[in-house]
Amino acid sequence: MGSIVQALKWIGGTDGVLELIDQRRLPRESVTLLVRDVEQLHEAICTLAVRGAPAIGVAAAFGPVLALQKLADGATTLDGVRQAHSACAFLATSRPTAVNLFWALDRMRRKAEKVGSHPQTTLGGLHEAILAEAKAIYREDVEMCRQIGRHGEKFIHEGAGVLTHCNAGALATAGQGTALSVLFEAQKKGRHFKVYADETRPLLQGARLTAWELRQAEIDVTVICDNMAGWLMREGRIDAVITGADRIAANGDAANKIGTYSLSILARHHAIPFYIAAPSSTFDLNIANGAEIPLEQRNGEEVTRLGSVETAPAGVGVYNPAFDVTPAENITAIITERGVIEKPDNSRISHLLRES
Ligand code: MRU
Repeated sequence: MGSIVQALKWIGGTDGVLELIDQRRLPRESVTLLVRDVEQLHEAICTLAVRGAPAIGVAAAFGPVLALQKLADGATTLDGVRQAHSACAFLATSRPTAVNLFWALDRMRRKAEKVGSHPQTTLGGLHEAILAEAKAIYREDVEMCRQIGRHGEKFIHEGAGVLTHCNAGALATAGQGTALSVLFEAQKKGRHFKVYADETRPLLQGARLTAWELRQAEIDVTVICDNMAGWLMREGRIDAVITGADRIAANGDAANKIGTYSLSILARHHAIPFYIAAPSSTFDLNIANGAEIPLEQRNGEEVTRLGSVETAPAGVGVYNPAFDVTPAENITAIITERGVIEKPDNSRISHLLRES
């Protein structure tokens, strides 16, 4: 059994830095990036140096901690609360789809307000309290990942062929991932299976990141082009599809990397189970269904270039939505840290999330 990578970590105390694996450079180079201020963190999220819904949330949680480091001598606790607020507001403009980002920023904002409202709180005390909250978000994410794996491993049978899309692994979280956590836990049980990783155009998170991560963990992985998935199903190579999610509406509609919707239809047509693995922080119960989920549009150059090579004529029109929405009826089960929601719908989701 190989090793599971660590996508991000906080180094030091309130004067510390956030260390990220720079995912833009994988798999060619495995290098880390030290993030020292909120502007750099915003850029790291926008340019996908750190990516994946839970990892974006955890990274952003450290934003207010970095922001307070920049306060001038003589600043007050109220200045600290204001600084934390503006860091959260700025980071919230980085990417629109993954709700984990807003969930984590909201939690940080509330913590700063609550601690800052006590008349005895010093600026140093406020700084310590928000660092502790960011670390708690980090630790909880690690634990959520492990629990998702434990709840989901039973779906990965001995000898199975498993298709995954994008990267929902350790690189996308603070822990051992969501969809890939299920695979890591099945591996720990001694099961053998074969993973097919969609390359995941346009930014190749499947080919670059999932394949890299699964090789580190010594899991049998084969990369395919996105347009091959249906044929592999037809050939009988795929027994289960498992992906992560960026935001799940109250009715179970789930946004994930563009291409996931098509896979869900292919899986349904071939009667193959389709699983989503995601922590409770990925659910947005304020949103009734998938039509209300904001879907990020990204720069067209991601589609018309491969690295520095132009792959389409100059001036051509490009449409580049980064995510799509899989309707709940195409999802066999959602695997969360609290348990598995089979045939997800409003009542099953609210039952598990509100009452456990
Ligand atoms: O654009 P990305 O790479 O951030 O997209 C990531 C995904 O779509 C993941 O599947 C999702 O965030 C779940 S990660 C556990």
